Amino acid sequence: MRVVSGIQPTGQLHLGNYLGAIRNWVRMQDAMEEANRAQVAAGGSAPGNQCLFFLADLHAISMPHVPAELHAATLEMAAALVACGIDPDRSILFNQAQVPAHCELQWLLNGTARMGWLNRMTQFKDKSGKNREGASIALFTYPVLQAADVLLYQATHVPVGEDQKQHLEMARDIAQKFNNDFGNGEEVFTLPEPITPPDAARIMSLRDGTAKMSKSDPSDMSRINLTDDADAIMAKVKKAKTDPEPLPGEVEGLQGRPEALNLVSIYAAVEGSSPDKVLAQFGGQGFGAFKPALGELLVETLSPLSARFVELRQDREELDAILAKGALKARDLAGPTLDAAYNALGLVRGAR
Ligand code: TYM
Repeated sequence: MRVVSGIQPTGQLHLGNYLGAIRNWVRMQDAMEEANRAQVAAGGSAPGNQCLFFLADLHAISMPHVPAELHAATLEMAAALVACGIDPDRSILFNQAQVPAHCELQWLLNGTARMGWLNRMTQFKDKSGKNREGASIALFTYPVLQAADVLLYQATHVPVGEDQKQHLEMARDIAQKFNNDFGNGEEVFTLPEPITPPDAARIMSLRDGTAKMSKSDPSDMSRINLTDDADAIMAKVKKAKTDPEPLPGEVEGLQGRPEALNLVSIYAAVEGSSPDKVLAQFGGQGFGAFKPALGELLVETLSPLSARFVELRQDREELDAILAKGALKARDLAGPTLDAAYNALGLVRGAR
């Protein structure tokens, strides 16, 4: 298994990122190690199960950004990932900009990706809004770079939240078409499988239960950030939008109540139970009782991560060293696939 995933270093890591993706990254990292150990114990050689996690700093330039802040933001997000449990000794942690193969493969894949496929991408529609003509080409071709990110490493599994599934489906389409058109019967690229957590694939805004929790929401009250202290978390949960009805005893009763459903789902995801179990405990009670319980659960879960993050973010040299070491390994792993893609297209790649 080869697990690959990325996060943009714009804004802060929030609860949606954590529950929808990062927590799964950590679980998969642990599972890979276990699988490698079992393989060695069974007498196998050179276990190949591996995780690669990266900061998508190249994707970050698809929207207006402040160049002087990008590197610092990349280091901060690296610190956040380590604080959440990504271990740079067990997983390969790096930033895209240090691995030029991402850009190279994107260009090679641009010959295979179709305008019609990109035109269907909902993220481009959301992010460009009414100003489609003024959007950057990078925002339009963003999913092709994302395909390169995973195909470059022959990813088998890509843990992401639901909002990234459409991009992953396109990565599979690109891989399949490239293999068919240029593979000469060989599979140049592995078709990656998206992995979304059933219980937290889409965490919604605290201000609007129909919009996803997002780094780009102008209201900080809409999300819980990893850096929020206990007071901020309690205040955000208490001010979260709800309705006047008490909680129902069963999930069916949450239909048409997106904010209530979101808070109950968050509770279940954090606790590792299910909305039904949460409602078995809180059904019949109002938000006056439920919100403080949810706030406390969040504080308890996030404060150790937040404390680690505050400590790690100070050491910029160490973070730089982690990313440089990860990039070296990523460059090595990327080489053979990049060569194969050049060859398949009839391009002669000069010496490096
Ligand atoms: P990004 O930086 O927006 O988000 C990082 C991860 O967090 C998940 N996520 C959520 N999950 C549940 N509920 C939410 N409200 C929520 N908000 C975000 C995202 O689905 C994602 O898994 N394009 C990607 C970064 C990327 C990438 C890749 C991912 C670049 N190349 C290759 C996977 C593979 C992005 O902007 O994620």
